[in-house]
Amino acid sequence: MGKLSNKSRVYGSITRNREYKMRTVIISGSQNPDGQTGRAADALFQGMVDKGSQGEKLFLPKMKIRRCRQCDDRGWGICRTEGRCVIEDDFAALVDKIKSADMVVFATPVYFGDLSESMRALLDRLRRTCMNEAGKDGISGKLAVGICVAGGGGGGAPSCAVSLERVLCTCGFDVVDLIPVRRQNLDMKLDVLRITGEWLASRNA
Ligand SMILES: Cc1cc2nc3c(=O)[nH]c(=O)nc-3n(C[C@H](O)[C@H](O)[C@H](O)COP(=O)(O)O)c2cc1C
Repeated sequence: MGKLSNKSRVYGSITRNREYKMRTVIISGSQNPDGQTGRAADALFQGMVDKGSQGEKLFLPKMKIRRCRQCDDRGWGICRTEGRCVIEDDFAALVDKIKSADMVVFATPVYFGDLSESMRALLDRLRRTCMNEAGKDGISGKLAVGICVAGGGGGGAPSCAVSLERVLCTCGFDVVDLIPVRRQNLDMKLDVLRITGEWLASRNA
């Protein structure tokens, strides 16, 4: 199992008076922490932090998340029988982080009107483990938000959002919001994302 601690940044803090703070994990499928996807995710999270949330941001391209092996003759593996994946990489540790969070933000750049490859690799494996009760435990009903950033010509963010919603629902997440962004409206959407983050944090306060 991989260690994630040196690949993440921690935001927010434990409160001095020990009141509970909503914990969010932001999972980015972009190579670039300071790119358009990063700016969008940061705006959402800033809104959450402003309302007392805390959390952590993880960059999938910097982690070892291999693609599914379709293990047996019928394409299944221990994902179906045990709710976990046979591949020894960062997947299991990332799933633990997802399970211990109150909310998960999936932020992906739009590639070909769809998810980035690193986001696809994660969610392809996660939906399989979630077919089993043990794998689903801790994920079913968990709040999730999607951000899809079409940073090139600007097309494909809505179709990417549909793709993301489908796979998150298959996993069992409660998909609270999906926010398509295109290069041309990024600056305007940063405000929308920040306000959405404030709302997400305060509705759970
Ligand atoms: C393989 C590939 C496919 C892409 N497809 C699209 C697309 O369908 N629509 C679009 O607007 N931008 C497309 N882009 C541009 C990315 O959306 C853009 O680089 C990304 O949103 C920028 O995010 P980042 O700054 O986080 O890397 C594509 C980029 C790559 C590398």
